[in-house]
Amino acid sequence: MRDEVDLGPPPDDGPGHGDGILDASPLGGEEAAEAGLRPRTLADFVGQSELKEHLAIILEAARRRGQAADHLLFAGPPGLGKTTLAGIVAAEIDVALHVTSGPALERAGDLAAILSQLAEGDVLFIDEIHRLSRAVEEVLYPAMEDFVVDIVLGKGPAARTIRIDVPRFTLVGATTRTGLITGPLRDRFGLVARLDFYEPEDLEAIVVRAAEILEVDIDTGGAREIARRARGTPRIANRLLRRVRDYADVRGSGTVDLAAAQAGLEVFAVDERGLDKTDRAVLDALCRRFGGGPVGLSTLAISVAEPTETVEDVHEPFLIREGLLMRTPRGRVATPAAWAHLGLTAPRSAPGDAEPPPGLFG
Ligand SMILES: Nc1ncnc2c1ncn2[C@@H]1O[C@H](COP(=O)(O)OP(=O)(O)OP(=O)(O)O)[C@@H](O)[C@H]1O
Ligand SMILES: [Mg+2]
Repeated sequence: MRDEVDLGPPPDDGPGHGDGILDASPLGGEEAAEAGLRPRTLADFVGQSELKEHLAIILEAARRRGQAADHLLFAGPPGLGKTTLAGIVAAEIDVALHVTSGPALERAGDLAAILSQLAEGDVLFIDEIHRLSRAVEEVLYPAMEDFVVDIVLGKGPAARTIRIDVPRFTLVGATTRTGLITGPLRDRFGLVARLDFYEPEDLEAIVVRAAEILEVDIDTGGAREIARRARGTPRIANRLLRRVRDYADVRGSGTVDLAAAQAGLEVFAVDERGLDKTDRAVLDALCRRFGGGPVGLSTLAISVAEPTETVEDVHEPFLIREGLLMRTPRGRVATPAAWAHLGLTAPRSAPGDAEPPPGLFG
């Protein structure tokens, strides 16, 4: 990567940015700690092997042709590596990375100005691309497709449009909400990649790599335990490593081993399965207050005093993947495993067990 150009303020602390230790969004002051741990090359990026292979091919082809790579969209829950990948894309094809975000691009002119500053082949990263305004999105379409921008000069009947060329660039978009990306925008990406939660082995490799960089003394037992409880999320794995290191330094021998990891994670309220306080609060409300559901997402969110978006983006995907929560046409439902995890007995015919009669919901 030649250089990194920051185009304006970082995305605001919108929905999805809470403050729990396991909250996957970066905490205040954490960006600096993260920056040092961010892999710079595809080879250093752990896991997501299918996506890595697709990217390797796309980037190599672009390099050989000496052309900008196709536009790329990365979707998935916070902390899985979308921003990291944007940096890697620019670094791998050795072009500048320009960074902005959906909420920062207020008017069509903001985007037009950025586009006109790009050099041939550069990467433009738009974080939270689902939060682009309609007007800005309209400017993006012809820019992505034909590398032109239409600018309206003047107002009223005298207004006229001029079309200017912009350099061929690669747009990298990131979103935690694929559902909110409009069809026309999504169709203009050459690759739409969904990042999945990481397997424990991958997280273990991430923890070991981070420990090396941070010069933390860690053994296999410690790394495995942190990985296992990291909610499938690299950002959380790195954060738990730092917390357990603190614990080991202050209360232990200074080595992050299994005992230090277990004791440290207990102090920070990370449970056996890696659920944080809010994850447990969601399950608890679902089971105790709503008898296991079905209950609507917004009702559930209100009862744990979290924004609906946070529950939907951060907590629900993890609980679903853990087999603790289900989405049904009538609302969210606790699985038998959720009751068991909370140490509760599921009602005899837990609503979640009752399949709706066939045909009722198509
Ligand atoms: N595959 C990976 N290998 C190693 N480290 C990773 C990987 N993915 C993410 N990380 C680490 O996790 C941190 C968070 O990743 P990143 O900021 O790219 O997530 P994100 O998907 O952009 O999250 P958000 O949606 O909150 O913006 C990075 O600083 C990096 O250290
Ligand atoms: Mg990001």
